[in-house]
Amino acid sequence: MEINNMEKFYITTPIYYVNDKPHIGSAYPTIAADVLARFYRYAGVPTFFLTGTDEHGSKIERAAKEAGKTPEDFTHEISAKFSFAWNSLGIAPDDFIRTTEDRHEKVVVEFLENLKKSGKIYEGVYEGLYCIGHEAFLKESELDPSGKCPDHKTKPEKLKEKNWFFKLSDYQDILREKITSGEFQIAPDFRQNEILSFLKQRLEDVAISRPNVKWGIRLPWDETQTVYVWVDALLNYISALGYPNGEKYKKFWPADVHVVGKDITRFHCIIWPALLHAVGLPWPKKVFAHGFFTIGGQKISKSLGNIIDPNDLVAKFGPDPVRYFLLREIPFGQDGDFSMEKLDARYEGDLANGLGNLFSRLATLIAQNLDGVLPDVVKSPKSLDDTDELIRDLRFNEALSRIWEEIAWANKYIDETKPWESAKRDRKLFEEVISNLAALLNEIAKKLAPFMPDTADTIRRALSAEKIEKPEPLFPRLEK
Ligand code: MSP
Repeated sequence: MEINNMEKFYITTPIYYVNDKPHIGSAYPTIAADVLARFYRYAGVPTFFLTGTDEHGSKIERAAKEAGKTPEDFTHEISAKFSFAWNSLGIAPDDFIRTTEDRHEKVVVEFLENLKKSGKIYEGVYEGLYCIGHEAFLKESELDPSGKCPDHKTKPEKLKEKNWFFKLSDYQDILREKITSGEFQIAPDFRQNEILSFLKQRLEDVAISRPNVKWGIRLPWDETQTVYVWVDALLNYISALGYPNGEKYKKFWPADVHVVGKDITRFHCIIWPALLHAVGLPWPKKVFAHGFFTIGGQKISKSLGNIIDPNDLVAKFGPDPVRYFLLREIPFGQDGDFSMEKLDARYEGDLANGLGNLFSRLATLIAQNLDGVLPDVVKSPKSLDDTDELIRDLRFNEALSRIWEEIAWANKYIDETKPWESAKRDRKLFEEVISNLAALLNEIAKKLAPFMPDTADTIRRALSAEKIEKPEPLFPRLEK
């Protein structure tokens, strides 16, 4: 659909577990979602961008205990760290939902009552292996040879408990149908194929409640059980909108894109649409699964001590370079490796020597040769409209690389046309070169705005000033 005809755009990130403070792995999808939200907002499409925190369940209960705090105090503290980090990264969600808020808990209860009425809920006993790290039952076949969870390196707990179940097995065919027809999209394609091949096996029903977890929302019809934390969490996408009667719910549901990590696609591509379908709600339009970062080739983990705090990166580089780096370095959807060396290199190369240099050369030429007054700006000699489609497809690194082609072109154009010489010889030529460059830099700033909002703003303000001055560097040299 043409962007001009879009009625609305609703984008979400996963809600983050508050067992630990944010790290670059959680910053990654949140920055990506912010870029898309800004892209649509700037295009005039009514946009809603939701993020938040996932605060119930055993994992959080345990982390609070270890910290010697009540779960209420603990979740409150850590959730605030997420809002703080997002704010310092220039991330501007329209709402931040916490699953411990009343507005969320009320919706969970109402949704579960409706689910119960659907007849797709029954009582049973489950015997299995529960991994608290995943907050999910694992199959024997999913464990490593020593019987541990391969992701968390911990032995799952053997549980035999009474649960309420959801008849997920009834949704196998409709899931396959809607995915294959493209009505429900999963991107990138290889993730869609993974889900489709998973759907070849018979789906098992899932437990939607837990008897021995206190830190959760009570099941409305059985006070001895709390709602399974994943069901609780998924419902954030509609609770924040005020399901079932809220104006925002009516306007924004279904979600246009759920951005999620590749580790949680099954929850979003199988359980979530089935739950919605059971109570007669529309499915999300698309789930996009991004890849994972490693640091120097290693998984990011607390025990390896390699967690990078986004606040430290922002303190050193500022928010825009961090946003740029994370989306430029690795194709969104693929796995990739993070390193400080790569970040330094992009900062020096693409930012300081590329965009920063272009901006400062141009503004200085105007300040020194034109008394700060820009000649009439013509239409940009080049268009970057082709980046729009790349952004809409979440191909952020390609969009950025395209923008940087023009930055390189413009720097070369200055080298070759040597405007500091024509300024003395041929005013007409000089003014033409300058106005071409200013138009192009404006175009670059416009396309860059969703990614690097502050930088784009600085450039555009400088170029529209009545008297343009020799600017401060956009990306100052960093001390080694
Ligand atoms: N609380 C659930 C999501 C519920 S959504 C209804 C959860 N939380 S999480 O905090 O563990 O992870 C949130 C997201 O961060 C996931 O999408 C995950 O993929 C992402 N990442 C966590 N570590 C990451 C990397 N090292 N690299 C990239 N993304 C990573 O799952």
